[in-house]
Amino acid sequence: MSSLIVMAAFVALAFCFTTAVGAAATVSVRRPLRGNDTLVSAQGKFELGLFTPAGSSGDRFYLGIWYKNIPGQTVIWVGNRASPLSGLASAELRVSTDDGNLELVGPTGASATPMVVWSSNMSSSLLPGSNNTAEIHDNGNLVLVDGGNSSNVLWQSFDHPTDTQVPEAWVGENKLTGEYQALTSWRNAQDPAPGMFSDTLDPNGTSEIFFMWNRSYVYWRSGVWTGSFFARLPEAPKNFIYKTTYVETPAYRRLINVLYDNATMARHVLDLTGQLKMYVWMPTSQSWQVLWTAPMVSCDVYALCGTFGLCDQSGKLPCGCLPGFAPVSERNWTLNDWSGGCRRSWPLTCAPNGSTTDGFLALPDVKLPDDSPAVGAAKSKLECESTCLKSCSCQAYAFSAGECTVWHGELRNLQRLYVDSDSPGADLYVRLSERGLQDLRSSVDRKKMGRKLWLVLGIVLAGVAAVGASAIVAWRIVLARRRRLTKMANVNGSSLVVYSYGDLRAATKNFSDRLGGGGFGSVYRGVLKQHKGDNSTHVQMAVKKLESLGRQGDKQFRTEVSTLGLIHHVNLVRLLGFCSSGDEKMLVYEYMPRGSLDGLLFHDGPCLSWRDRYYIMIGVARGLAYLHLGCRDCIIHCDIKPENILLDEDMSPKIADFGMAKLVGRDFSRALTTMRGTIGYLAPEWISGQPISTKADVYSFGMVLFELISGRRSSEGYNMTEAAGSRCSDSWTFFPVWAAGKIVEGEVGVVADPRLHGQVRPEELERACRVACWCIQDEEVLRPTMAQVVQALEGVVHVHAPPVPRVLQHIVS
Ligand SMILES: *[C@@H]1O[C@H](CO)[C@@H](O)[C@H](O)[C@H]1NC(C)=O
Ligand SMILES: *[C@@H]1O[C@H](CO)[C@@H](O)[C@H](O)[C@H]1NC(C)=O
Ligand SMILES: *[C@@H]1O[C@H](CO)[C@@H](O)[C@H](O)[C@H]1NC(C)=O
Ligand SMILES: *[C@@H]1O[C@H](CO)[C@@H](O)[C@H](O)[C@H]1NC(C)=O
Ligand SMILES: *[C@@H]1O[C@H](CO)[C@@H](O)[C@H](O)[C@H]1NC(C)=O
Ligand SMILES: *[C@@H]1O[C@H](CO)[C@@H](O)[C@H](O)[C@H]1NC(C)=O
Ligand SMILES: *[C@@H]1O[C@H](CO)[C@@H](O)[C@H](O)[C@H]1NC(C)=O
Ligand SMILES: *[C@@H]1O[C@H](CO)[C@@H](O)[C@H](O)[C@H]1NC(C)=O
Ligand SMILES: *[C@@H]1O[C@H](CO)[C@@H](O)[C@H](O)[C@H]1NC(C)=O
Repeated sequence: MSSLIVMAAFVALAFCFTTAVGAAATVSVRRPLRGNDTLVSAQGKFELGLFTPAGSSGDRFYLGIWYKNIPGQTVIWVGNRASPLSGLASAELRVSTDDGNLELVGPTGASATPMVVWSSNMSSSLLPGSNNTAEIHDNGNLVLVDGGNSSNVLWQSFDHPTDTQVPEAWVGENKLTGEYQALTSWRNAQDPAPGMFSDTLDPNGTSEIFFMWNRSYVYWRSGVWTGSFFARLPEAPKNFIYKTTYVETPAYRRLINVLYDNATMARHVLDLTGQLKMYVWMPTSQSWQVLWTAPMVSCDVYALCGTFGLCDQSGKLPCGCLPGFAPVSERNWTLNDWSGGCRRSWPLTCAPNGSTTDGFLALPDVKLPDDSPAVGAAKSKLECESTCLKSCSCQAYAFSAGECTVWHGELRNLQRLYVDSDSPGADLYVRLSERGLQDLRSSVDRKKMGRKLWLVLGIVLAGVAAVGASAIVAWRIVLARRRRLTKMANVNGSSLVVYSYGDLRAATKNFSDRLGGGGFGSVYRGVLKQHKGDNSTHVQMAVKKLESLGRQGDKQFRTEVSTLGLIHHVNLVRLLGFCSSGDEKMLVYEYMPRGSLDGLLFHDGPCLSWRDRYYIMIGVARGLAYLHLGCRDCIIHCDIKPENILLDEDMSPKIADFGMAKLVGRDFSRALTTMRGTIGYLAPEWISGQPISTKADVYSFGMVLFELISGRRSSEGYNMTEAAGSRCSDSWTFFPVWAAGKIVEGEVGVVADPRLHGQVRPEELERACRVACWCIQDEEVLRPTMAQVVQALEGVVHVHAPPVPRVLQHIVS
């Protein structure tokens, strides 16, 4: 016991020791920052010091700022991006005695003599003297101030961003100096030197933000500032985390994000993929989650995969090389720097007299490169091919709709088409040398050869087997029925069918009919023949291929799934069986002919009647109440949204995807937020880090109620001018905010979906509105339980007028 206390005291002492010695409050002429020492902001949010990028060899040191109070090192700013120090020994961040600039001094390369590798580099006429001090603020800004007057900021890191914009920092232009504040991606995962991608405010003076490749080619535009958001980035302001503003004064024009709650951690990064990514820290999973990206698809980034690269959105990493090509630099490729592109494994054999042995490889269904193609006069595919062969510089051709297109020089921006792509695909024929084609063929042959060998072996074995076969057949007929029974009962009595991978592949026609998908994987329609006695029937089902499971063991998976198999409720989608074969894990559900609620509610088509909507509200509430209370273990759904509410033939709602939180474990919140828009249904505690309870589902249910009432997405903006008599100055707001206000004022009628033309039951509408508003209260204790919601909707208990939720109020104020 006493030794434990001593230990504790020692640990506490050691902690004090390191913080007292290692972390300074300011840097000044008399107090430089040396070697491993760091500068910490007042509340301990950010830390400044020298760092080595994660994963790199450790002989390169950079001056950087990172979050202090989270695991790992998330760097938001780098000083000496392109000129690292080679050691820490004599490294020093100091205020120069000559002119008062902040400068980083230390060894570089082989030379051990300290050199200035980075400086705030202000002209000395702008600096008052050598009395300056540097400090780091709690928003991550490193500032150099006049020692005699600390409100006189001389230089600040927010004026010189790297690849990250944290809240309160800006992207913009200093009109007085003409300097731009722009984000520039790192060169690769380990090198903070300026990379290929940058963003900048329109140099022509509009409020539009351009994303540029190689500081010249604009590949994405934000659209202009409309007063509350950027025209082409409407999802950005629709979140509960920060507010974006664009300000223009005579001195500057700037885009700034301000957090609603300073305890939240969020940042925007111009990533190695050329996309701007918005991250938020999820304390629940101790990880950063991407809320949105722009452009949405990394393959839309110009020349992301370099020359002769092939961008494939479905892969884990976007870039690969065309067949017959290899990365110019394998090393850069593994560090996620694809800009160097690919080169031919074997050169083309083009003789000066025009004869060649080159051939072509067909690349089906790609988005053709839009770089300056030449249109040939050829009338047939064969003619087109020979047109290309005749020119030594021709690299590829395509022949479609009677038109021959050939490409000379390097190919860029080749994309394998992804499911939701709106551009038409075509077949591209890539020119390869004879040797290159041989190589590809022989690698295919090797695979075929292997198969042939098995075939021979198979024939021999088949002969042997045939002898015993007749006896076995008789035996199997006897066993067949009994075995089907054991197959069904072998998982803890939950009567789930265990399917083989082959069964499900056949039933879904090789996973060809995709019904939808979310963070956990895609869902496919399948038809399975089922035998009942002598009759066989065709049963439709939905097969979910799980993706976010990681390396979960087979046994654990079976245990979790079998508990899900025990859950039966008329408002929950029934789990019929599963498949677990190696890394392939699938769940088989009953098929819901009407699809999910979002399709019926938000898309054009016949409008859901009020009666149906109210029926759906009560059904979903009952299903959730059962999950929360009725099962042996309480199940928090964690992902209630219209996409997860399926409808039966008679409009009876059934909740899908329950139990996923347990199945996917720690990765859950990652899977949650990978789908755009889901954030709108997440309760504030997901981001504030409080434990998640059943009340998180109540919150999401409240959001869904608003959508059922109004027929519009809660996360979408609402133009107040649509609503007559509104006195609000800001014409754009969250729908739930506006609706909650109306409900509190007692004007529930205006909240209802206009497509209903007033065909609602007023007392039901009022009940639903009040319940919705109570469900989205910030304080968990104020939200009702799902059992209370059921009673309230059924009219068993009276619902008082609710207060307007505070978090939502923030957003409008
Ligand atoms: C910096 O810290 C590392 C380990 O924490 C230590 O090995 C190294 O000697 C330190 N260097 C200096 C200059 O203090
Ligand atoms: C400081 O700025 C000048 C131009 O104003 C530039 O030539 C010089 O390279 C800069 N020095 C550093 C260390 O950034
Ligand atoms: C330097 O700063 C101190 C306060 O930190 C002030 O008292 C002193 O007058 C300043 N000296 C000069 C030369 O500005
Ligand atoms: C301190 O600096 C600020 C900003 O430059 C200036 O407005 C203020 O007058 C200065 N205060 C003093 C006492 O010099
Ligand atoms: C900026 O304005 C000039 C002249 O008006 C125009 O030629 C140019 O295309 C504009 N640049 C961009 C990026 O819009
Ligand atoms: C990027 O632009 C520079 C000139 O601004 C040019 O020299 C260089 O070749 C370009 N890089 C690529 C990969 O095209
Ligand atoms: C958040 O931080 C900013 C500056 O860092 C400060 O001005 C603001 O008052 C803070 N807000 C809250 C609620 O703490
Ligand atoms: C690989 O990366 C290094 C530094 O990041 C760069 O200097 C080099 O040009 C790159 N090579 C290619 C082929 O892109
Ligand atoms: C073209 O030149 C190659 C050798 O460079 C030769 O083998 C071939 O016969 C020549 N073809 C014609 C049509 O002259």
